[in-house]
Amino acid sequence: MLKYLLLLIPNVISLAVLSQSQAPINLQTKNTSLVLTVGGNNRLYQSYLGPRLAAPAEVEKLSGGREVYLTAGMENQFEPAIRLVHEDGNPSLELKYVSHNTQQEGTTSTTRIVLKDSVYPVEVVLQYKVYFNEDVITCSATIQHHEKKPVRLTQYASTMLHFSADNYWLTQFHGDWAREVNMVEEKLTNGIKSIESKLGTRANFYQTPAFFLSLNNPATETSGELIAGTLAWTGNFQFTFEIDQRNQLRVRPGINPFASDYTLQPGEVFTTPEFTFTYSNQGKGQASRNLHRWARNYAVLDGKGPRLTLLNNWEATYFNFNEEKLIELFDGAKQLGVDLFLLDDGWFGNAFPRNDDKAGLGDWQENKSKLPNGIGRLVQEAEKKGIKFGIWLEPEMVNPKSELYQKHPDWILRLPNRPENLARNQLVLDLTNPKVQDFVFSIVDDMLTKNPGVAFIKWDCNRSMTNAYSAYLKEKQSHLFIEYTRCLYKVMERIRAKYPHLPVMLCSGGGGRTDYGGLKYFTEFWPSDNTDGLERIFIQWGYSYFFPANTIAAHITSMGKGQSLKFRTDVAMSGKLGYDIRVNEFTPQELQFSQEAVKTYKRISDIIWLGDLYRIISPYEENRSVVMYVNENKSKAILFNYILNVRRKDIFTRVQLQGLDPKKKYRIKEINLFPGTKAGNPDNDKVFTGDYLMTVGINLTPGKVTSLTSNVFEITEE
Ligand code: DGJ
Repeated sequence: MLKYLLLLIPNVISLAVLSQSQAPINLQTKNTSLVLTVGGNNRLYQSYLGPRLAAPAEVEKLSGGREVYLTAGMENQFEPAIRLVHEDGNPSLELKYVSHNTQQEGTTSTTRIVLKDSVYPVEVVLQYKVYFNEDVITCSATIQHHEKKPVRLTQYASTMLHFSADNYWLTQFHGDWAREVNMVEEKLTNGIKSIESKLGTRANFYQTPAFFLSLNNPATETSGELIAGTLAWTGNFQFTFEIDQRNQLRVRPGINPFASDYTLQPGEVFTTPEFTFTYSNQGKGQASRNLHRWARNYAVLDGKGPRLTLLNNWEATYFNFNEEKLIELFDGAKQLGVDLFLLDDGWFGNAFPRNDDKAGLGDWQENKSKLPNGIGRLVQEAEKKGIKFGIWLEPEMVNPKSELYQKHPDWILRLPNRPENLARNQLVLDLTNPKVQDFVFSIVDDMLTKNPGVAFIKWDCNRSMTNAYSAYLKEKQSHLFIEYTRCLYKVMERIRAKYPHLPVMLCSGGGGRTDYGGLKYFTEFWPSDNTDGLERIFIQWGYSYFFPANTIAAHITSMGKGQSLKFRTDVAMSGKLGYDIRVNEFTPQELQFSQEAVKTYKRISDIIWLGDLYRIISPYEENRSVVMYVNENKSKAILFNYILNVRRKDIFTRVQLQGLDPKKKYRIKEINLFPGTKAGNPDNDKVFTGDYLMTVGINLTPGKVTSLTSNVFEITEE
């Protein structure tokens, strides 16, 4: 007997058909439940998403809701998750539940739900991976058919999530070169809001592939119901948020289908990237901590492994260096006590020397006049000084002024019958061509084979695609955006098979590649070419919502007017610290300070890299910013207090700390002081209970408040 029920459960009010046969599919983490049910019409519904449901018997009673993976061409009038045109031109799809299975692996489980069209031989498998302890779920889909001829896929979301609340608040992050991840929160209205990019080689730039969606009211750091979502894809992405006439919201994350109709051959499997989300009813802070933990445990290469502190030469020399000058710079790295020297752009090209960004890209041989004894000599010299050596590569690109361009014009993405469109004087190589994949692999492989001492790579990608056309893909031009990203991953798979643990920084002309699709193969990313300490407080704040500190490279440079070295160092210390500065121009006190800072950082970096982040005061709300990292057993914490450009109106109240154990006693000690200065806080070196620190709090600005100053406090259980 079929029953019709009106359900009243959090986030879902719906009329739907109940299936008699299939029990609900209960995807649950420690604190969240996502319940899917099969209707009497055999379609799959999202019946519940919210706080974990405690009683299995009540989960059993759930039914109805919104169709999980909405199709196109039949009765649905909203944006579909999937749309395809069959080989006979029929543009409809109806997906019915066939079966599902769950595989448990430690504390994670993967559920695969098979859906099929009953008229056409099309199969979609929805995959949900549940990370129980981290409260994270990743969702993806695979699409396959057995029609006689190819079908045309025009929409292929990774999943679809449905919400029913009074109001929806979307937090997005937009930017540009050197001003990445600016946060904006707005109330969604009826219709479709889309956040997307069409950049080809990268996801991030103008829009970041991550968002918060708060239900009913805007969530704060510590309260409110929300999901945080991000897509693991280093290419064009799209998140659409559609509110219908009944105020129901559909969130559709996936590859951006713009100009990307995909011709799917019989038997070929189209796999979408994973959409990762976490649900929190305790605000954005908890959501970030969930994602950080998940990232370190599962998503980032060697997410819990150590990271190398380094001195980079980019801002110190740009293209203007030679062997002698570099070896001198090694002394700077040694003096600082960092682990590695990173040689940036400008070391290669002979027929077209790389003396600026106009030539040489693609010709990966050491420039004979700058480096007559090759990279090998640099590695040796670095080793002699007790530091490691790392190198910059931009393997996917070519300058027209290069031998590569002359030899392999067909390896380059460019339109026939149109002029080339250069950006930073360069073009993108056609990574969809297997020969180009071999070439890109060989750049890395040759470097590491010839110089086994190379201990780090910075992988850059300084332009997006414009006027792009692949000579290799021929009539399949609409596959280019998708194939490019897939082929990048293919090359990375090969590199990682041979060099599984080599630390590699993902960089894309500042923060262009900041996504978990890339971080599977990389150990950290370059968030921005803007290293001004004040700007970095905002930029690192923005990334911290989705990425753990050990992935956010933060270098101390000479950028930042009116900012002391101490301020810039304190800012870099809250991420993965490095330097890009002329150490020989430091005053003796600056050198002493920096040497101590590196030692201190090495001592406390575990807390920053692996601890829980509490964003206590937002630079978007006050002219200061306070963040804190607490280790897992709450015995140690590091607090960063940054004062921005203060105005007379600013009144800074006491700060209530977070994340401590109320019962424990902690000593508060200011660290990382500049030589000749003393801790000015009356609470310095005193002991308080966690309870006191989290309820009464401490005054972090007891004296005169001075713009662009900062403090670092170490908080240790007594
Ligand atoms: C862009 C990067 O973001 C910089 O750090 C630097 O590596 C330059 N490219 C080199 O060309």
